[in-house]
Amino acid sequence: MLTFINLIYFIVAILFILGLKQMSSPVTARKGIVWAGIGMFLATIVTFIHPDGQKDFANYFLVNIVAIGIGGSIAWITGKKVAMTDMPQMIALYNGMGGGAAAAISAVILIQQEHADNLIIQSIATLGALIGSMAFSGSLVAYAKLQGIMKKSYRFANQQIINGITFLIVILLAINIATAGHGYSMSGLLVFFVLALAFGVMSTTPIGGADMPVVISLYNAFTGLAVGFEGYVLGIPAMMIAGIVVGSAGTLLTQLMAKAMNRPISNVLFGNFGEGGGEAQEVTGSMKEIEASDAAIQMAFANKVIIIPGYGMAVAQAQHKIWEMTKLLQDRGVEVKFAIHPVAGRMPGHMNVLLAEAGVPYDIIADLDEINEEFETTDVALVIGANDVVNPAARTDKNSPIYGMPILNADKAANVIVMKRGKGKGFSGIENHLFFKDNTRMLYGDAQATANKLVATIKEL
Ligand code: TAP
Repeated sequence: MLTFINLIYFIVAILFILGLKQMSSPVTARKGIVWAGIGMFLATIVTFIHPDGQKDFANYFLVNIVAIGIGGSIAWITGKKVAMTDMPQMIALYNGMGGGAAAAISAVILIQQEHADNLIIQSIATLGALIGSMAFSGSLVAYAKLQGIMKKSYRFANQQIINGITFLIVILLAINIATAGHGYSMSGLLVFFVLALAFGVMSTTPIGGADMPVVISLYNAFTGLAVGFEGYVLGIPAMMIAGIVVGSAGTLLTQLMAKAMNRPISNVLFGNFGEGGGEAQEVTGSMKEIEASDAAIQMAFANKVIIIPGYGMAVAQAQHKIWEMTKLLQDRGVEVKFAIHPVAGRMPGHMNVLLAEAGVPYDIIADLDEINEEFETTDVALVIGANDVVNPAARTDKNSPIYGMPILNADKAANVIVMKRGKGKGFSGIENHLFFKDNTRMLYGDAQATANKLVATIKEL
C-alpha cells in the first residue's frame, strides 16, 4: 500500500511542478491551475488510505470530512463571489490559512514531543512553527489593510527595537524547544507561539498599503517554506515538494515586485512607502479635456499608438472594447502596441490576464523594458485607467512616495490621451504630473463607456 501511496505522491509532485510551470504564461495559466488542482485533489484522497490514518479511522475520517467540507464550501463560495479587484486580499487570506495550517501541524508535533530527541526533525518542526505563525498573523494584517478594515499604518517610537527584542526572544525560545529534548515546558511553547504570532502582526502593521502585494508575496514564500518543513517532519514528499515550489516561487515573485518598484526588500519591510516624506513637487499647467470623437480621430490618423492599461481598465472591464478598437485601428494601418508595467493594476500579471481574456495577441504586448524606448517615436500614448505607473514624479520628485519606481515613459510620446472618470488619484494617492502636461488631453468617463464611443467614431470614419 505504501508503495502505491508514494507513487501517487510522486505523480502529485509532478503535477504541482508542471502546473506551476504552466502558470508562468497567460496562455497556459488556466491549464496550470487545473493541473495543480488535480494534484491537490489526489494528495487529499490519498490521505484517506494512508495506514497512519487507518489507525484511528473513525476520528480521522470524521475530522477530515468535516474540515474539508467546511473549508471547501467557504473557499468555493467566496472564490465564486470575489471581484477580480479584491483578489489580492483574498490571496492574502488564503495564504495566511496555509501558514496557519503549517503552524498548527507543528504545534501538534511539538506538544506531542514525538521527535523531541531528534535534533534535526525537532529544529525543522520549530522553524516551520515560527515561519508559519508569522505568515499566518502577518497575512491577516495584510488582508485587513487591503480590505480597508485596518485603515492606518501603526507606528510608534522605538518600534523596530521592540520588534527586534521580540524576535530575539522568539529565537531563544525556538532554540530551547529544538535542543532541550523533552525538557521544554508547555508554557514556554505557548509563549513561543504567542510571540511568533505577535511578531507577524507587529512587523506588518507599520507597512503601508501600497507595499502590501510585496508583503503578501513574501508571506506566501514563508507559508511555502513552513509547509515544506512540516512535510519533511511528517515524511510526506508531496507536501514537501508543494511547499518548496510555493516557497521558491514566492521568493522570486517578491524579488521581481520589489525590483519593479525599484526598492530593496528591506526598504519595503522597514521603510514608509506611500506615507509621506517631504513636500510634494508643485504641479504646473492645467488639465485639458478632449472629446471622445477628437481622440478617436487623433488615433485613427496616427502611425503608431501605444496603449497603457491600468487598474481603471480592470474596474471598468474595458479590455474587450479596447481590443475591438485596436483591431479597427490596425485595419486602418495604425501600428498598435500594449505596454504593461509590472505593478499595473492590483496584482502581478493583472493586465496580462485581462488582455489575454479579451484575446489580444501576445506579440503586440510588451513589458516596460522592451517598450520604453519606443514612446519617443509614438504619436499617441493612450492611458486607460492607469495613473501611478505613468507618473513622471517617480523620476523627478525625490519626496514622492513613488520616487525611483521605473515608469512607462508615456510623457515622451507626441500626444497623450488619458482615459479616467475624473480627478481621482491612483493607488499611492498622489497627483500625477503627466495629466497637466501640454501634450496631454483628459478623456473623462468610465473606461468602458468611453471605449464604446471611440469604437463608434472610428467605425464611422
Ligand atoms: P492606479 O495608480 O491605482 O490608478 C488607477 C486610476 O484608474 C485612478 O486614478 C482612477 O481615476 C482610474 N479609474 C478607476 N476606475 C475607473 C473606471 N471605471 N474607468 C476609468 N478609469 C478608472 O493604477 P495603476 O497605474 O495601474 O497603478 C497601480 C498602482 O497600484 C501602483 O501604485 C502599484 O504599486 C499599486 N499596486 C499594485 C499591485 C500589483 S502587484 N499590480 C498591487 C497593489 C497595489 P478616476 O478615479 O479619476 O477614474
